[in-house]
Amino acid sequence: MKIFAFINQKGGVGKTTVAINLARALSLQNYKVLLIDFDPQANAGSGLGIKTSKDESIYQALVEGNCERFIKNPYPNLYVLPSSIDLVGLEVKLVDFPKREYLLKELIENSTISGLPLMQFFDFIFIDSPPSLSLITVNILTACEGIIIPLQCEYYALEGLSLLIKTIRGIKKNLNPDLMLFGLILTMYDVRNRLSHEVAEEVKKRFNWITFKTLIPRSVRVSEAPSFGISVIDYEKNNKASLAFLELSKEFLERVKSYNKKFSKLLK
Ligand SMILES: Nc1ncnc2c1ncn2[C@@H]1O[C@H](COP(=O)(O)OP(=O)(O)O)[C@@H](O)[C@H]1O
Ligand SMILES: [Mg+2]
Repeated sequence: MKIFAFINQKGGVGKTTVAINLARALSLQNYKVLLIDFDPQANAGSGLGIKTSKDESIYQALVEGNCERFIKNPYPNLYVLPSSIDLVGLEVKLVDFPKREYLLKELIENSTISGLPLMQFFDFIFIDSPPSLSLITVNILTACEGIIIPLQCEYYALEGLSLLIKTIRGIKKNLNPDLMLFGLILTMYDVRNRLSHEVAEEVKKRFNWITFKTLIPRSVRVSEAPSFGISVIDYEKNNKASLAFLELSKEFLERVKSYNKKFSKLLK
């Protein structure tokens, strides 16, 4: 399992932050990770110090059908395919386009880097997504294998989750049979806030089998780091959120390993 998407149609729940910092944590352990920014807000790129125009972004990569020349490499082992605001126009442009649900999937499959297919070069491909259930999201759900849903520890955390799960089921049935819900990640956990604790407990109770044990705490450093164009792990190594992201990466790797083992058994 290699391609993971961070999805939640709600904005501000921590999708981009988790994608950046989990990718960074894995890159520090010598895993090669490509972070694809497929959100017109382009925060995954800018959060890692990459600013781009339409001509240098995934938009142009889709036009050309190969993304190699657009990939940036801000840290050893961590690569980014940046987005730009022009991606907003994609929906309208694609209305009558045949196979419009498969553009991202085909871009990943047909692109190479250093002479190798992306799937061979990278250990993991992460896709950051916009806060919507749009054609862009459909492209992401069609291209990825595992879905990771970040949930903010607040009162409405679970609102919209059933619609999201329904959408995922629809895509699995019609467009991408390999799709699976890989995990829920609780973010912005505040130890001093009782509600935060209650929401975390509720989510763990209802989605026990899939919720990552590592909670990502709320820390002001996390919100400061993107303005410097660096991950929080690089901004303040011993920050509680940085340590949580490193812990999360261990749990993520364990889970990937156990899924891969399960599947190789099933295939025997
Ligand atoms: N653990 C955290 N502690 C404090 N602020 C956070 C944390 N995670 C995310 N944030 C902040 O919350 C806002 C929304 O996070 P973001 O990752 O951009 O969400 P999304 O991608 O789902 O819209 C950002 O300003 C981000 O810096
Ligand atoms: Mg985002």
